[in-house]
Amino acid sequence: MIKTAVMGYGTIGSGVVEILEQNKDVIAKRAGQEVELKYVLDLREFPDSPVADKIIHDFKTIETDEEVKIVVEAMGGLNPAYPFVKACLLGGKHVVTSNKALVAAYGTELLEIAREKKVNFFFEASVGGGIPIIRPLYRCLMGERIEEISGILNGTTNYILTKMDKEGESFENALKEAQNLGYAERNPEADVEGHDTCRKIAILTAMATGKEVNYEDIYTEGITKITDIDFKYAEKMGASVKLLGTSRMKDGRVNAYVAPVMLDKTNPLYAVNDVFNGIMVKGNMLGTSMFYGSGAGKLPTASAVVADIIEAAQNLEDHVEIGWTEEKQAIEPMDQASFRYFVRIAGSYRNKEQDVKSLFGKVEVYELYGMDEFAILTQEMKEGEFKAAAIAFDTKEQAQSDFGIKQMIRAML
Ligand code: HSE
Repeated sequence: MIKTAVMGYGTIGSGVVEILEQNKDVIAKRAGQEVELKYVLDLREFPDSPVADKIIHDFKTIETDEEVKIVVEAMGGLNPAYPFVKACLLGGKHVVTSNKALVAAYGTELLEIAREKKVNFFFEASVGGGIPIIRPLYRCLMGERIEEISGILNGTTNYILTKMDKEGESFENALKEAQNLGYAERNPEADVEGHDTCRKIAILTAMATGKEVNYEDIYTEGITKITDIDFKYAEKMGASVKLLGTSRMKDGRVNAYVAPVMLDKTNPLYAVNDVFNGIMVKGNMLGTSMFYGSGAGKLPTASAVVADIIEAAQNLEDHVEIGWTEEKQAIEPMDQASFRYFVRIAGSYRNKEQDVKSLFGKVEVYELYGMDEFAILTQEMKEGEFKAAAIAFDTKEQAQSDFGIKQMIRAML
């Protein structure tokens, strides 16, 4: 029998406890022995819960108990998750976590400690919740050179954008609904500003390149500036707006970003709606594969954690090599990335056609009935070139005391 401890009895931690109990027999069979929960670390008491007699409040109890071989970190955040996880690994315990903030910020160091101590540090649940993506990258796709990973990696923002698209809701109302349904955090900034997606694409990029990726190097833009008007244009264009985390890898160079992007039906991510996540992985031999499913939520995420517990149990004496090393992966500046650009401009196209054409070249023009504005869709251009053109356009407009660009959304159409 192998003993585990769960740190954090919140949504994920309680889900892990539930699965360990409900799937006890299959877990024992696959792990090669029974997996028994010995402690649950939390600041609170849970007198009426099934773990009432297992609750502890002092991390030292886990750290000093030689019987505990596998520790689950489901606390979230960096403090005290980071010092606790580090202490467990240094103490020769295997650690499984669902915490992308921890993996993105300290993954390199924690993986190095796991290597040195010949234990395992697994984090399948940190990206895509219950969708298998970390393990496919280090196992099933290990014969591939990964060329691109592009995904809808955040359920909350995908729910909000889907509501805006399908039901014409405003961003504020859709966010309120997401909060009422318990999808969005009370402080939704990490979701809506793209920080959560940024950490996830940083982890996936590090997995694919085998090198450390600093998530702060990744250009990150959230969805707070997307409006219901943008979706009216998108509908005309047969498109939708999705928050993407994308990483393109070629000859050691990596281009990565997080931003809302206009997609049409030809892109498989177009059909990923509501709280679902979808991740496309392009390998040089395989071509494109798509991973789809529940990217968040109690049992889906806990299921990925339990799979990691089983893999740790199967490798109690071995270190399974996953992840990346201390070598740093440079990320190209966003100015080097190429997109088409959807741009909304105040006024009428008739008055501004010349400036539009001289600065943006050949464009498609879209107009909405009764609106004192129009939109253009440029040809593909480098972000740096687009920015220069946009600044020149706005400068001309201001010189004529006119309003210029109201909105810009990158497009892959
Ligand atoms: N807040 C995240 C989401 C949870 O909405 O996808 C899963 O990481």
